[in-house]
Amino acid sequence: MIIHWLSSIDSTNSEALRRLAQLPSGSVLAAYDQTAGRGQRGNSWFTEPGKNLTFSIVLKNLPLKASEGIRLNYLASVALVDFLDAKGVKAHIKWPNDIYVSGKKISGMLIENTLGPDGRVAASVIGIGLNVNQKEFPQLALATSLTLCTGREYALEASLEEFLAVFEGLLPQLSAGELMGRYASRLFRSGVSARYHDLLTDEEYEGVIEGVEDDGRLRIRDLGGGTRLYRFKEVSYLL
Ligand code: BTN
Repeated sequence: MIIHWLSSIDSTNSEALRRLAQLPSGSVLAAYDQTAGRGQRGNSWFTEPGKNLTFSIVLKNLPLKASEGIRLNYLASVALVDFLDAKGVKAHIKWPNDIYVSGKKISGMLIENTLGPDGRVAASVIGIGLNVNQKEFPQLALATSLTLCTGREYALEASLEEFLAVFEGLLPQLSAGELMGRYASRLFRSGVSARYHDLLTDEEYEGVIEGVEDDGRLRIRDLGGGTRLYRFKEVSYLL
């Protein structure tokens, strides 16, 4: 993979999308300062300049149909969890793709796919924000960073290279089923009973996260009976 470090950019995802035609597969755009980072649900992604990793990986000609695009989410999530494991930090994936350590978010991702005329994923921009050396999160009570977890400081360039080595190592599994199993096994609250708010029916109930369906829907067993399946934004986790 070829890393291009940018001193400052609005958003590495936006820049990767603007330069998509010129960037070969395996290109990575990383920014020391991201001035208008984009998050899920149209939110912004704020990070202190020079402290954290904000980068986008460009992949092209993937062996994926549009409906299989969810596997990129499994790939990036499992890669982050494996990378953090190697640092001695036990992380979990809050469905669909937030990475949490001890109830606090350490990483988030924004994956933007372009479909080809054959309905396959022609290109994917996998944008990842990983909190590394930031110690204070004034706007976010529930955020953490690698340094807050381990007490150490990390070189951003070396950390990105280490992460990309893990990511690349998992790439051949993109078409296999194993990634989904590994993703499901590291889901936050997996197998334990907790309370959920079903936003489709406006009900609160006690349930157990069992895993994900092939299409990426979250499966929760309702302890009152039955199984509930959710797409993004259809369920919220209650404390
Ligand atoms: C989220 O949790 O809401 C997703 C955050 C994704 C942030 C990353 S930082 C690098 C890339 N560029 C962006 O503008 N967003 C992603």
